[in-house]
Amino acid sequence: MEHAVISGEEITLRPAQKSDCEILLEWRNDPETRKYSFSSHKISAEEHSRWFDGVLVSKKRVLMMIMVGEERVGQVRFDIMDDDSEAEINVTIAPAWRGKGLGSIALRKACERFFNERESLRCLRARIKKFNKASINAFHDASFKEAGSDSQIVLMVLRRHEI
Ligand SMILES: CC(C)(COP(=O)(O)OP(=O)(O)OC[C@H]1O[C@@H](n2cnc3c(N)ncnc32)[C@H](O)[C@@H]1OP(=O)(O)O)[C@@H](O)C(=O)NCCC(=O)NCCS
Repeated sequence: MEHAVISGEEITLRPAQKSDCEILLEWRNDPETRKYSFSSHKISAEEHSRWFDGVLVSKKRVLMMIMVGEERVGQVRFDIMDDDSEAEINVTIAPAWRGKGLGSIALRKACERFFNERESLRCLRARIKKFNKASINAFHDASFKEAGSDSQIVLMVLRRHEI
């Protein structure tokens, strides 16, 4: 299904809940998502369900659903490091909604909210496969800066004072 380009005001975030389990697995197993993931195998429903139950109760992981109205259009997840000063961010936009500016806007909103909610947080980082141009551009649009790379991965970071 095709969707029109949408504006920032239409995009909201809400915490993930148990009923999001199935759609998150669908997005995770989408071929393009797998191509750009660091563990690219197809995930079984059991493996996903165990992982997701763990995320919902974890104090070190925050998973938010990206919404346009009542429709779930993506997810953004923060994995908080041990000392709470850094977190790694991961984002997926639902296949039908990619390439419409949603990723950039949702990342910006999610990062602002996460920094505002967590005083101890100093820095967010994203590890992205070098050939994932859409993702590098989306993080760049959300004010992330390249902080290093190797032959396969680009590290992008956003510090608190840069948002
Ligand atoms: C990566 C992803 C989150 C980006 O979200 P999106 O809503 O599709 O991206 P946007 O529409 O906000 O576009 C962001 C930028 O990438 C560019 N872009 C979008 N799709 C692109 C593509 N297929 N190839 C190259 N550039 C692309 C846009 O033009 C824009 O760049 P600009 O600001 O220079 O114009 C989304 O495509 C996705 O979920 N992909 C699969 C999973 C994934 O790769 N997750 C990230 C892992 S690090």
